Amino acid sequence: CAVSVETKSGVFGFDCAPGETLLYAGLRHGLTLPHECATGTCGTCRARVMTGEVDVAWEEAPGAARLKRDKGDILLCQTRALGDCVLRVPAEVAEKPARHQIPAYRTGLMENIRRLTSDVISFEVALSTPMEFDAGQFVVVEAPGLQGARAYSMVNFTRSAERIELVVKRKPSGGFGDWLFGPGAEGAEVKVFGPLGRATFHADENKNLLMIAGGSGIAGMMSILASAAESDHFRTRKGYVFFGVRTLADGFYLEEFARRVAEANGNLEVTLALSHEEPSREDHPDHPGVKLAGGMVHEVASRAMAGRYDDLMAYVAGPPPMVDGALRTLITQGGLSPSAIRYDKFG
Ligand code: FES
Repeated sequence: CAVSVETKSGVFGFDCAPGETLLYAGLRHGLTLPHECATGTCGTCRARVMTGEVDVAWEEAPGAARLKRDKGDILLCQTRALGDCVLRVPAEVAEKPARHQIPAYRTGLMENIRRLTSDVISFEVALSTPMEFDAGQFVVVEAPGLQGARAYSMVNFTRSAERIELVVKRKPSGGFGDWLFGPGAEGAEVKVFGPLGRATFHADENKNLLMIAGGSGIAGMMSILASAAESDHFRTRKGYVFFGVRTLADGFYLEEFARRVAEANGNLEVTLALSHEEPSREDHPDHPGVKLAGGMVHEVASRAMAGRYDDLMAYVAGPPPMVDGALRTLITQGGLSPSAIRYDKFG
């Protein structure tokens, strides 16, 4: 189908493949259509259908709650064109992303599925063709036989990656986490769309780094740390990581944190914030260099960062309430401007 998009910066056109969402089709053609989660939760990809027939895949998507459906409003990431159509997108749109790769579809094979804690699983996807991405970006994964797509940030960082490592927190309701532990996941072929996301690290910005993450939101931070280490960022700049989990037993990637701290010559601080347990000591018993603190991660960060917000770029990722708390702290206490904060909300 041929799609025409009226935007604040002009009219653009692109084709949709059968079954492809309007968002992915537009991004695949290089258009910088507004989006954040790409999976129906944030509501950023709002558009209005002016003419033409469309099909909405997930009517109850949380991101659709405030749409004016009677006026033809849709979420681009949840809608497919049934024929040629004209859309209106209330945003500035460019024909090519300024800094990031144009996303594309790949297939991949599921490998190395392993449990990191009682409810966190990591896995790798061996990609059909290498993917270039920036540290902090994510992909959308579709698994065979499962409805919908899920967004996961890359944990690893390589400029042109043949395999990507992703991490999932298992939810009680099952879905992708249950599938991962089922009989058919290891070796299964999945569909991957990306890279996506603008919460990215660029060494040439030359800033101190503050990272606040909850649960599996730490994935993108690991990629940022790997990229920062590659560019020797902590030789001259500071890094502060606050990783929120419930209890000491829920922490993961601690060995890697300890190694990164040791390599950074005193310029990297990592704190594991425990929301459901008061730690009996100030540093991790098994992972030297990893500090421990009790409380919600954004509150722990707020206490530790007082007076240290100068010249930094802040990264935030995790469940929406945690991200909102961290953003409030950064803006009101830290005095950071929105351009100094990059975040991902995993709904
Ligand atoms: Fe479509 Fe988030 S990008 S709802």
